[in-house]
Amino acid sequence: MSAIEINALRSSPEIREWLSEILIETVAHGGSVSFMHPLQAKAADAFWDDALAAAGREERIILGAWDGDVLAATVTLLLDCPPNQPHRAEIAKMMTRRSHRGRGIATALMRTAEQLAVRRNRTLLVLDTATDGGASGLYEKLGFTLAGEIPDYAFKPHGGLSGALFYWKRIGG
Ligand SMILES: CC(C)(COP(=O)(O)OP(=O)(O)OC[C@H]1O[C@@H](n2cnc3c(N)ncnc32)[C@H](O)[C@@H]1OP(=O)(O)O)[C@@H](O)C(=O)NCCC(=O)NCCS
Repeated sequence: MSAIEINALRSSPEIREWLSEILIETVAHGGSVSFMHPLQAKAADAFWDDALAAAGREERIILGAWDGDVLAATVTLLLDCPPNQPHRAEIAKMMTRRSHRGRGIATALMRTAEQLAVRRNRTLLVLDTATDGGASGLYEKLGFTLAGEIPDYAFKPHGGLSGALFYWKRIGG
């Protein structure tokens, strides 16, 4: 298997197509990433068009992990925090293609996102994940602390409510 290369994704029709494909696959298999199944390509494309435009304005960084010319995983670092929280950033849309899971790719992406946040003088990272079927194990392994759970926070992609677990981590100290 070839080495994984991580880089910041820039807007192009091809990149948008890769990102939409991962998002639709993730949602179809029950990943809680803000959308319901079935996620239409048009809605996925619209989401990534906006997200990539925000990345172009440096309000966020959308990282991609490439296995050759296949986008294997992505994570977003949200930098556009309110004026009284310039030290904070948020992790979102952590998704690894099913064919590439269990190989440490999400871990590598999270570490890169953290380094980039530190370089932008961020000292606090936050994220949330579904209680039911989320990725709390991954985040706890990466040193995030659980702040708490909010019950019935969001619907799972195939229906039924799940709580959400909120995590934080001090970085760059
Ligand atoms: C969560 C996800 C991104 C992990 O991707 P991955 O590339 O397989 O993760 P890694 O290989 O880096 O796993 C790192 C560690 O976290 C653990 N882990 C990964 N996914 C986990 C999950 N869903 N729950 C608990 N632990 C998890 C792994 O067991 C692994 O531990 P190990 O090193 O002891 O084996 C992937 O399963 C996914 O895309 N899930 C669907 C979308 C989703 O739920 N995203 C999170 C939204 S908050």
